[in-house]
Amino acid sequence: MRTPLVAGNWKMHKTAEEARLLVADMLGGLQAVSGVEKVLCPPFTALLPVAAMLAGTDIGLGAQNMHWEAQGAFTGEISPAMVAEFARYVILGHSERRAYFGETDEIVNRKVHAALQHNLTPIVCVGETLEEREADLTAKVIRRQVSGALEGFTAEQVSGMVLAYEPIWAIGTGKAATAEEANRVVAEVIRGTLTERFGEAAAQAVRVLYGGSVKPHNAAEFFAQPDIDGALVGGASLKADAFVAIAAAAKQA
Ligand code: PGA
Repeated sequence: MRTPLVAGNWKMHKTAEEARLLVADMLGGLQAVSGVEKVLCPPFTALLPVAAMLAGTDIGLGAQNMHWEAQGAFTGEISPAMVAEFARYVILGHSERRAYFGETDEIVNRKVHAALQHNLTPIVCVGETLEEREADLTAKVIRRQVSGALEGFTAEQVSGMVLAYEPIWAIGTGKAATAEEANRVVAEVIRGTLTERFGEAAAQAVRVLYGGSVKPHNAAEFFAQPDIDGALVGGASLKADAFVAIAAAAKQA
């Protein structure tokens, strides 16, 4: 049995002060949802205040990115150790990182290795663009992203990771994939690739989230799918009521 996981990706939203207000708004509601792992991923500058508010709760904290080197002359970057001081999770390879900041599968792979070295659970994002989808390249692209990100790991290491299938055309657009279609990609392409490379047990142990316009009104459909284990939520994670409702939907599923 895979424990459902609902993670909020705040992206570049919320100052530290605004983050405190948002967490205060959702804390009680989130804590009332049992049996679901809940994770908040605020921007770096809000990690410390949010960590203080989550201490002693069952709500996890994650970063949205990090560098792969332990330290060094990398002006403007944040190291894995800096993230691990406050957080247990890190989102890696988000499509916005790939599209706007030039992250390749190789860079994502280095970051995933760095995450494990620092006891961080990576939430590794994969997904196809609209053009790739229309050219019938979804399976090929996702296979390449999954294999690339997980190069050099053992089945045991992979088993503890979290993957997120986020079709790029569904992110922030209000156009979610249908739940059946998302489940098909997760089951056949993502778990299929994992089975080929790491074996059936690892492929079944990995939690795979769906992301892309998950809202309170559609969350339950995704969570009802057998191969989808939760959600990576962007826009709706910035609204306390909406995020709590999505977490509650994961519990019911
Ligand atoms: P969205 O973002 O929920 O706003 O579509 C999801 C994501 O990018 O992780």
